Amino acid sequence: MAIRQLSLTDFRNLRSTTLDFDPHVNLIFGENASGKTSLLEAIYVLCQADSFRSHQLRQCVNHGKSGFLLFGRFADFKAGLAKSSKKLEIHVNGEVIRRRSELVRRVPVQIVNAHSFELIDGSPQQRRGFLDWCLFHVEQSYAEIWGELRHALKQRNRLLKSRRDLKLLDYWDDHLVSPSAKLYEMRCRQCDALRDLLATEFSDLLHDIPIEIEYRRGWPEGVELKDALVAQRQRDVQSGFTNSGLHRDDLIFTTNGIRTSAVLSRGQGKRLCMALLMASLQLVNRITGKRIILLVDDLQSELDSEAQQRVYQKLEAMDLQLFISNIGARPPAGLAKDFKMFHVEHGTIKPRIFS
Ligand SMILES: Nc1ncnc2c1ncn2[C@@H]1O[C@H](COP(=O)(O)OP(=O)(O)O)[C@@H](O)[C@H]1O
Ligand SMILES: [Mg+2]
Repeated sequence: MAIRQLSLTDFRNLRSTTLDFDPHVNLIFGENASGKTSLLEAIYVLCQADSFRSHQLRQCVNHGKSGFLLFGRFADFKAGLAKSSKKLEIHVNGEVIRRRSELVRRVPVQIVNAHSFELIDGSPQQRRGFLDWCLFHVEQSYAEIWGELRHALKQRNRLLKSRRDLKLLDYWDDHLVSPSAKLYEMRCRQCDALRDLLATEFSDLLHDIPIEIEYRRGWPEGVELKDALVAQRQRDVQSGFTNSGLHRDDLIFTTNGIRTSAVLSRGQGKRLCMALLMASLQLVNRITGKRIILLVDDLQSELDSEAQQRVYQKLEAMDLQLFISNIGARPPAGLAKDFKMFHVEHGTIKPRIFS
């Protein structure tokens, strides 16, 4: 779902304004610290009720103000977000909604920034987050099953920490096993789909470097989760948390059997990260039919110009609404002829007519 219009008030350093966006390509330029990332962040926060820069939305409130307001008109709905010092209120089509997921589900949004390029070498948590974003949008039951698993894990960890009522561990083990099995299957299927896309549509980004993706589960091979949980109990009680399970799954990337981190150059690693990210956008778009909002922050300082051009060509061919920061005052080669441009100067955003 494309965002057509954004109104923002007291968000970061940005001067309150209303902006009309292009449904395909929007380019944002301006000096360092002018507010480019903040504009991308405002769009992200409006769609996610969360930020990629800080999980505390109060950080986004303009210094000296008590809250911020965001309002957006999307292709087929309106959304508003009011953050005050005490609470966060989310509106969809004029009604207050209770669950964040009701907003998040409507419009898939992703950010590409320096952090995105840590995907293959960064933490397993980041890789699980990468899988989860996609699954949240493509699998109807995903959020609910994930909620069941999180609840069971929390209860189990609480018991382990308190070291009381340990006989209840059997009960929570059972409640962990069922959602874990379902999520494991979903994640496996998603890895298969990503593998296919990397080997076909996105292979040219990798210069034909063969990439193998292994989805490794977070408990020992050849053992049922239930048995693994029982076997690790003593250790879990000692450490006060559940040492293995689906919450410890990971993705392993290799080329000809060797970890990519030991083989690929930094540039190749970044291309792989980009290819993975784009493949996941493609999956979500194809399965849900929803246009994805992709925020690209400062790609220029991450990829060389040849890689950038390939990436932009690919992005251009996908069903996305793009917001790209830091591209200079001219659109990058390979991008559409139709686009809107915004100049940010000391927090003031102005549309720029380009001819
Ligand atoms: N809550 C806030 N209130 C006011 N200014 C802020 C807030 N948070 C960050 N800033 C400032 O906003 C400016 C713009 O930051 P940013 O959007 O990251 O700039 P750019 O991406 O253009 O380099 C920076 O000077 C930063 O210090
Ligand atoms: Mg920035």
